[in-house]
Amino acid sequence: MVPPAIATPDFAAIVLRWQAHHGRHDLPWQHPRDPYRVWLSEVMLQQTRVQTVLAYFPRFLERFPDITTLACAPEEDVLAAWAGMGYYGRARNLHRCAQQVMACHGGAFPRSAAQLRTLPGIGASTAHAIAALCFGERVAIFDANVRRVLARFLGFGADLSVRMHEHTLWAEATRLLPQSNDPTDLARYTQGMMDLGATVCTARSPRCADCPLRAECVAYRLGTPQRFPHPPRRIARELLTMWLLWVQADDDALWLLRRPSRGIWAGLYCLPTCPTHAAVLAALPPHATSHTIPPIQHELTHRTLLLHPVYCRFPCRIPLPLEGQWMSATDWPTLGFPAPIRRLLLEQPPA
Ligand code: ADE
Repeated sequence: MVPPAIATPDFAAIVLRWQAHHGRHDLPWQHPRDPYRVWLSEVMLQQTRVQTVLAYFPRFLERFPDITTLACAPEEDVLAAWAGMGYYGRARNLHRCAQQVMACHGGAFPRSAAQLRTLPGIGASTAHAIAALCFGERVAIFDANVRRVLARFLGFGADLSVRMHEHTLWAEATRLLPQSNDPTDLARYTQGMMDLGATVCTARSPRCADCPLRAECVAYRLGTPQRFPHPPRRIARELLTMWLLWVQADDDALWLLRRPSRGIWAGLYCLPTCPTHAAVLAALPPHATSHTIPPIQHELTHRTLLLHPVYCRFPCRIPLPLEGQWMSATDWPTLGFPAPIRRLLLEQPPA
């Protein structure tokens, strides 16, 4: 399956040399590189682009400068600071993880990947990233960038969504790690692999002419780097229709509810949702005039949501026969909303 490959010391040495001259050295989580900042950046970077994280990271740190502050904060404040980055499960796990580090580890992150892995929201690759970057442990990260670099370099064409193939390539990633006992090598190498994937061995237009691994890269030799890694299998998503009741008073207050702590958009603020248009109309006073807004499609990991907003304006804050409360226009921009609801609310309401 894996063709005969370059000797381990050469691969690591090439990546280390390249990182020193061409890698990224000015990312805010690199200075200082302490576990709290590295953990926070790694969780943010799991599903959010570096450019976006660069804006959120300093703001989040200003609000939660250390793990004690984060652990003691109400969950709602953590979700609000995360608002706009999506995948809010990450923010909830971040909060739980901070509490667990306080309760079980005396406020200091454990130093081994195996122990880090036991904490909420820290999967194997994130545990390896923290252990390698902060503590110099000889463990391999395996995020999308690294998978792409290795699949191309080794000409590994098997489907990585198949567990066995993932394990095979991850074992190769471990084999190629630097052998040295210098813990800073592991940090620099790990950063180098991420940097290569992000800046040279990119998904759509790899810059092979600038790649230090080109001479031994199987995909380059074949002339088809974009064919690696194997494209992920398409998952058939279930379609879920929801009607949203967007009720706004003349002072711009909105009727909002905080969603339950389980299920879609757990713990976030949202417009009331109903299964049918008839149920929306039943929640409105008999003479209220409402407009339906063209539906919005939103993809979740396993589901496609089809959202049908219904807009209704009231002259004052009359109570509605629905869970929720009126929230002032000055409050709602700071709340944690699901991404499509935030986008909807930022649009101009219909006349
Ligand atoms: N993506 C994931 N982790 C990263 C890091 N530490 N630096 C840059 N990009 C990353």
